[in-house]
Amino acid sequence: MKHLIDPTDLTKEEVDQIVELGEAIYADPGKYRDALKYHKLATLFYEPSTRTRLSFTAAMMELGGNVLGFADATNSSVAKGESVEDTVKVVGSFADIIAIRHHIEGAPYVASQISSVPIINAGDGSHAHPTQTLTDLITIKKELGHIDDITIGFCGDLRFGRTVHSLIKALSRYKGINVILIAPDELKLPDYIKQDVCRKQGIAYREVNNIEEVISELDVLYMTRVQKERFLDEDEFERVKDSFVLDSKKMTLAKEKMAVLHPLPRVNEILPEVDDDPRAAYFRQVEYGKFVRMALILKLLEWKDDPAHPMPKPEENFSDRRLRCNNARCICNCEQHVPQSFRLSDSGIIRCFYCDSRAAKNN
Ligand code: NCD
Repeated sequence: MKHLIDPTDLTKEEVDQIVELGEAIYADPGKYRDALKYHKLATLFYEPSTRTRLSFTAAMMELGGNVLGFADATNSSVAKGESVEDTVKVVGSFADIIAIRHHIEGAPYVASQISSVPIINAGDGSHAHPTQTLTDLITIKKELGHIDDITIGFCGDLRFGRTVHSLIKALSRYKGINVILIAPDELKLPDYIKQDVCRKQGIAYREVNNIEEVISELDVLYMTRVQKERFLDEDEFERVKDSFVLDSKKMTLAKEKMAVLHPLPRVNEILPEVDDDPRAAYFRQVEYGKFVRMALILKLLEWKDDPAHPMPKPEENFSDRRLRCNNARCICNCEQHVPQSFRLSDSGIIRCFYCDSRAAKNN
């Protein structure tokens, strides 16, 4: 069965098909009005969300389907201690497809292993956010006309920003991608993306620490919010929270056709004065996101039992008592029955199978 847990669960061809279908729905939404009549989507949101949950809800409604679920896990059986697998088993008997957002990294993956219906990861901790990636890809295509051959600057919280991690992974399969990372030292991109994605796939990247230095080179400027809720140290958050702010003055240095993207919500990293600039694409991006989610739901249901669209084989994984995952927010440290498991990355580093953090030695 086809799930979407990580952007690479879809082949590049499947991604392109979803983006193209999203564009077709955008052009003629009426044609899809009854496409999923009598079907149900469950949205299980264990972490706050406005856009993503409402976008999924609107997407399913515009396909003629229905939506059930929860936006606050404290009101569900989770509060009684139910595991994510049990919740998904139960909900799978009510719904045809499930979107899960979870603060625990790896939770949607573990759920997908036992689910009888397709699972969509709507964001797990600071790990991955593949439907935002589809949103970003359709936006780049609509704004620039192509995804290949672009220079994209990622600015802000590249350490905890799951949308950045997933988008870099997805872009690594397009040609001519040039990445510029704009972040303070505390918020730099995690090693596993630099080593296993950029270096392995031959993506050119460089790291700088201010926007002005590079803005004139960019086709896309991808702004992000500093993820307050992921910081374990409040002083560290205070130090970096206002690191990079985009204003009209900086926009004067940019190309005439550059697109500014932001997964939203923004806090103060883009001043409202930029909103009227035609290059500010972040509110159009929200709209494209609904159409691409409509396309995703349609395609995952169509591919559900199609042997031509399998899940990729999971990477080989192993247990080793001498190692442990140090990430307190990883599913293997949060649910007792999920064993610690590791994989050897392409760059020769042993990583947690669920959250990709580097394995630590067990004392
Ligand atoms: C992002 C997320 O949840 O990771 N937002 C979104 O999905 N629209 C970015 C963020 O929260 O900063």
